[in-house]
Amino acid sequence: MAVMKAGLYISEKNVVLGELEKPTLNEGEALIKVSYAGICGTDMMIYAGKHPRAKAPLAMGHEFSGIIEEINGESAFSIGDRVVIEPTLSCGTCEACKSGQFHVCKSLKLIGIDKHGGFAEYAAVPLNRLHRIPEGLSDAHAALAEPVAVAVHTVRRSNLKVGDNVVILGGGPIGLLIGLMAKQAGANQIIVSDISPYRLGKAKEFGFTALDAKEVNVTAEVLSLTNGIGADIVFEVAGTQITATQMVEVSKIQGQIVVVSVYKQQPAINLATMHFKEISLTTTRCYSGSDFEKAIRLMETGRIDVAPFISHQLPLEQIAEGFKLMENPDVSLKILFQQN
Ligand SMILES: NC(=O)c1ccc[n+]([C@@H]2O[C@H](COP(=O)([O-])OP(=O)(O)OC[C@H]3O[C@@H](n4cnc5c(N)ncnc54)[C@H](O)[C@@H]3O)[C@@H](O)[C@H]2O)c1
Ligand SMILES: [Zn+2]
Ligand SMILES: [Zn+2]
Repeated sequence: MAVMKAGLYISEKNVVLGELEKPTLNEGEALIKVSYAGICGTDMMIYAGKHPRAKAPLAMGHEFSGIIEEINGESAFSIGDRVVIEPTLSCGTCEACKSGQFHVCKSLKLIGIDKHGGFAEYAAVPLNRLHRIPEGLSDAHAALAEPVAVAVHTVRRSNLKVGDNVVILGGGPIGLLIGLMAKQAGANQIIVSDISPYRLGKAKEFGFTALDAKEVNVTAEVLSLTNGIGADIVFEVAGTQITATQMVEVSKIQGQIVVVSVYKQQPAINLATMHFKEISLTTTRCYSGSDFEKAIRLMETGRIDVAPFISHQLPLEQIAEGFKLMENPDVSLKILFQQN
């Protein structure tokens, strides 16, 4: 039995470098030699022992790039191609899948959650989940295509129009990427709230108006920045009760709230105020294959530069250290494990 190196989730707050059987390919799969794999909020949820589906021992990691080493089946790809993985796995038979909405599949699964992912030397990936990395895009940057695709999908699901004022509650990687995407889409003011000085600093670097939610009254500040009107579009990307309350307060009359967060505890939302202000509420999940391609193109052309997001690049051997760093939002934004 051939074995490979893998960064494994063992139990709550316990990740180690270990070994797994090197994957053998089913028909229609490729063997990917992983180059870079990023830690995502969902990996942190698994790490915290709070993910309902993840089963230990698991090589997590659904944001990864690599090189094709073997192919089993018909494909336009060749051995040696550089690729990034779209990690969603849809059933193909439910109502959503039948209508082409594979990303909201009734039993959607993800590589790196429901099966071993990119925190390993190799991953077996269905050929239809591979996207070619264009020449001008590095493997490290391409590993961020997944979170960029979340931002593409989120902004495309919003009503954002040129000149709109946007509020983003929560300036983590996803919130900040949504900010950059909103800028591409023509937003006027982009106001980001967070409680971490490091992440607020990043928001300022990107040219956003940064509000320290520990220091200021976010609702009052947004109203004052928008002539008492409120935001045209509010993205809730912090996942807390406080921000779920604020999202209604900072929205203008007939504004739109886009809930991106996955709440660990379900928040109370003031529907009475939503009704009086005739606010619309939209939710958003993952991305389509076309959003994923758009994310790659936006990075290729330099319209979205993910370099400032990468706070650390570590060898997979330092998996435990990587997760400890990621627990502290004041020192980390996107951590990549590097294996080349
Ligand atoms: N819709 C989707 O498909 C999708 C995809 C990826 C992530 N998500 C969700 O999006 C959310 C953000 O993801 P992330 O990776 O950026 O997570 P993150 O935890 O890094 O970011 C959340 C940010 O909110 C900040 N925050 C905490 N309390 C706050 C407050 N009171 N006011 C303002 N900011 C506050 C934190 O400091 C942090 O920077 C998570 O809930 C995640 O599960 C959804
Ligand atoms: Zn992710
Ligand atoms: Zn389905």
